[in-house]
This record gives sequence, C-alpha cells and structure tokens, in this order.
Amino acid sequence: MKKYYPFENPPLPYAYDALEPYIDTKTMKLHHDKHLQTYVDNLNKTLENSRFQNMSLEQLIYNADRLPDDISVPIRNNAGGVYNHWFYFEGMANSQLKLPVGNLLQAINNEFGSFEKFKDEFSKAATSVFGSGYAWLVKDNGKLKIITTPNQNSPIELGMCPILTVDVWEHAYYLKNYNLRKEYIDNWFNVVNWERAENNYNKCK
Ligand SMILES: [Fe+2]
Repeated sequence: MKKYYPFENPPLPYAYDALEPYIDTKTMKLHHDKHLQTYVDNLNKTLENSRFQNMSLEQLIYNADRLPDDISVPIRNNAGGVYNHWFYFEGMANSQLKLPVGNLLQAINNEFGSFEKFKDEFSKAATSVFGSGYAWLVKDNGKLKIITTPNQNSPIELGMCPILTVDVWEHAYYLKNYNLRKEYIDNWFNVVNWERAENNYNKCK
C-alpha cells in the first residue's frame, strides 16, 4: 500500500470471496470498496493544499495530536481508518494454518500460557469493545499485550508495535452475524494470516 499522499485503495490481496464461509463476500466488498475507500478519500481531502503532504501514513497518525486543530481530528480518524483497515485486511488469508507459528507461537505461549488462553483473552477483549473499534495484539516494551482502541485510534500513536488486529465495527460483521459479534470473532480466528502476524512480530523491536 502507498504510504504517502495521495493515498490509494489498491485491491485486496485476495478475492472478495476468499474468506468464505467465515467472512462473506458482500461484507468484504462493501468493507473494502466503500468503507475503506471513504477513509482514503477523506484523508486525501484533508491533506489537499496542506503542508503535511510529505508525512507518511504512520507519521500522520503518530503526530495527529501535534497537528493544527483544524486537521488534527480528521487526520487521526482518516489516517487511522486507512492504516487500521489495511492492517486488518492484510492480517487475513484463506489459509489452512489455524495456529500461530515460530517465534510468535513461542512468545504467545510464554506470555499467555497457551494459544487457547490467548485466544480466549483476545476474544473477550474484542467482544467487550464498547461501540466501534479494534482489538490488537501488540508488542509494547518487549512484551506481548492485548489492547483495544476506540473508533479509528491506532496503537502506533501509543508507540506500540502492532502484530494482529480484528475490526469490530458493526460494518465488519452485521450483514452476516447481525448483532452477534462473538460469532464473527470466532469465524475471524479461522482466517487469521498467522504467517503475516509472525512477520509483523519479527519486525517489532
Ligand atoms: Fe472497518
């Protein structure tokens, strides 16, 4: 994905129906083509005629609080919306692998006791997000942590290194699971791209 203005919305790294039967085609199409597209368009609009066009997506998020008042909130929401959605989409795959691998598996076992315990804790955190937001597995000061963020806030503004995320905005599941967020999260665990998650983990300092 392009990291600088003007931002773009490239196709998903898999077909819209690749995550069936766990995440439905219609949701994926709307999520990517409409919801994410809107964040990309609004971010570009906010940066039009702005002297902050040379900042990367990550820099915009990290510095959102320090930007002038009139663009601080739209930058946080829309740059976060673009970053978080790509992190979520790239974190999924039609994969046979249902468990973390390598260094990440080891770190999860060390931190949470077992993958099942991690899954349970992550699932509870994601289910408990009030309103819209995300649950994340992050590395923070060398330690794995599960955190949640409201709206389009992102762990990178907190200086944390993201490894995995699930979008729990209703638009991510309402067409298929209606109000049953827990059912969506259970399904999502079947399409986690654990190879990608491990790559992310290995890149965190
Ligand atoms: Fe979303």
